This record gives sequence, structure tokens and C-alpha cells, in this order.
Amino acid sequence: MILPMKELVLRYMEEVDQATASSADEVEKFRIKFLGKKGILNELFAEFNNIPPSEKRELGFLLNQLKEKVQQKVEQFRSILEMSKPFQKLDDLTFSADFYPMGSRHPLSIVERRIIDIFARIGFTIAEGPEIEDDWHNFSALNFTPDHPARDMQDTFFIEKRADGNDVLLRTHTSSVQVRIMEKTKPPIRMIFPGRVFRNEAISARAHCIFHQVEGLYVDTNVSFVDLKQTLLYFAREMYGESTRIRFRPSYFPFTEPSAEMDISCPLCKGEGCNICKHTGWIEILGCGMVDPAVLENCDIHSETYTGFAFGLGIERITMGLYQIKDLRLFFENDTRFLHQFKAAF
Ligand code: PHE
Repeated sequence: MILPMKELVLRYMEEVDQATASSADEVEKFRIKFLGKKGILNELFAEFNNIPPSEKRELGFLLNQLKEKVQQKVEQFRSILEMSKPFQKLDDLTFSADFYPMGSRHPLSIVERRIIDIFARIGFTIAEGPEIEDDWHNFSALNFTPDHPARDMQDTFFIEKRADGNDVLLRTHTSSVQVRIMEKTKPPIRMIFPGRVFRNEAISARAHCIFHQVEGLYVDTNVSFVDLKQTLLYFAREMYGESTRIRFRPSYFPFTEPSAEMDISCPLCKGEGCNICKHTGWIEILGCGMVDPAVLENCDIHSETYTGFAFGLGIERITMGLYQIKDLRLFFENDTRFLHQFKAAF
């Protein structure tokens, strides 16, 4: 019996749906049967020329569908065979494993971890706080009076103005975490606070509106400026090498008294003078000072029993110095060509 062409095509479709193949040979046989030069599809297309025009539209559609089905089936057979390949190769135990490209740590994370590790070795623990802060923790508790000019220096991103003055804002420094810790912890306190901070500055090679700080705080009985100097000398030597020298210059922060900026002897020229240290032999790396008694009192810590020191440094600046990176914007662009250059031991 000769079947009408439409029925024939539908039967072939079913045959394709149910076809199986378990080897490359079988796939090839299936392909040739349908798609070969003398295969079923060519035969059907030849036949197609002889059918009445009224049936052409429907049959043409069906034929194309069948052809697509066969092609998809061949693809499917091939990918299933491909997937099962490694199992067949398992008897060769020298066959190398698939290569998975590894990511790399961000240079800022690498340096942040190094700083944390250096302080952890002398007993500092880590604390973190919120990036969205209130005026009290970012300013007022730190001795910034409402009209203090130093508020202007920290171009603040405000989120909400509050009638009681305790505005909501993005923290401009991690000193806010200092306050949060002192409010709820009894001395001795020996902690560092890494984190992201925000200042409304124009973005350039040397400034960004988002950057990272690590701040340190040590509060106990009999903490003096000597402890501050010795701790930071230890840090400088661990970070930049045994021969590193430090010097302090008087400075001002509302929350420390006295306050200082600390410089290290230039690690590149060892203090001789070069381009990096602008021929001064010194590089500024952090701000520090003795915690102002008023700040301790704001946090309910008795300032006649306890004293403390604090310091704060910018991770971007330290990282740029360590790796000789000239443009700060590179840290935020996520260009993998830049990021892949940094290797971390941990
Ligand atoms: N919080 C200061 C800043 O962001 C840095 C600092 C911290 C200075 C602690 C002294 C003590 O500029």
C-alpha cells in the first residue's frame, strides 16, 4: 500500500522521536538514513515536486519540520555521547583533569588582610559596624560640635536630616565603630575596625567617593603615647621591612589629643629621596593620637581611670604605595587584566 505523503511524513516523525543510538556508528547510520544523499529527506523533497499545488503549503511545512527534527536528534545524540566520554577515559589515570580558571583576590583585600594579620599577632581583634550611620556615632560622640569646621572637611553624604540633629548619613570614617564598641564594651579594648567609608569628593586618580580604612583602638589603664609609638613602629616594620623608620608630625583630629600624622621612611629609596617620596625620604601613612577624654566620657568610660590611643589609615593609599599603582580608579573598575596581577598567600 502506498501511503499518502502526509501520513508518511508523520510516521517518519514518530520514528525520529523514538530513535536511539548508543555509539558514534549508530548516530552516523541514523544521519545517513535521513539526511544522506539518497536518504529519506531527499527522496521526500523529490516527491514534493509532484504533488498538487493545493497540498504544497501544508506538506512543505511538515517536511521542513521533519528535517529540523532529524537535525536536532543528531545533535542530541552527539552531545550525549560527548558527555559520557570522560567515563570511557577513566581507565587512563594519567588523563589530565579539566582546567578550571581560578579568580584572584582584590588587591585591597590582600592588603586589608595583611594589616589585620599584623595587628592580630599582637592581640587586636576585629569589629565591624554599619555603613549607614547617624550623626552621633560619626561626629557628635567623637567631639565634633554641631558647628565644628572639621565636619566640612569630611564632605558627608547625608541620607536624612532629622529635627533632633541626629541626621542619618554614610559614615565618613570607621571611627564610628570605635564609638559603637566603646559604648558597649568595658576596657581593656584592643581592636581594629576595617571597612568602607564614603565622602562626597570628585573622582580622580587620587581621590574617590568610596574608599576603605582600617582604624585601631586601644583603651586600658596606663595607656600612653609610648604604647602608640611602639605599636605603630611594630606595624611599620612588619608591613614595610625591618629597617623602616617612623616619624610623627603634630596634627589635629577632634577626637584625639594630642594628634599626629605618622610617616615612614620611604621603602623604595630608604630615605635617600626619590620620585615616590617626592625627594623628602618620607611617606605619610596614617593619622593617630590619644583618645580625647571627652570621647571616652561620651561612651561612658571613666576618663580618669582609662586612657587610650587610636589610629586610622587608608587602605587605598597603602596599596598604591606597595604596588606602585598610580590611579586609584583602577581598584573600582573590575578590569580582570588589572586584578589578575595580584597574588595572595592567604
Ligand atoms: N578617622 C580619621 C580620618 O578618617 C583617622 C584617624 C583615626 C585619626 C583615629 C586619628 C585616630 O581621617
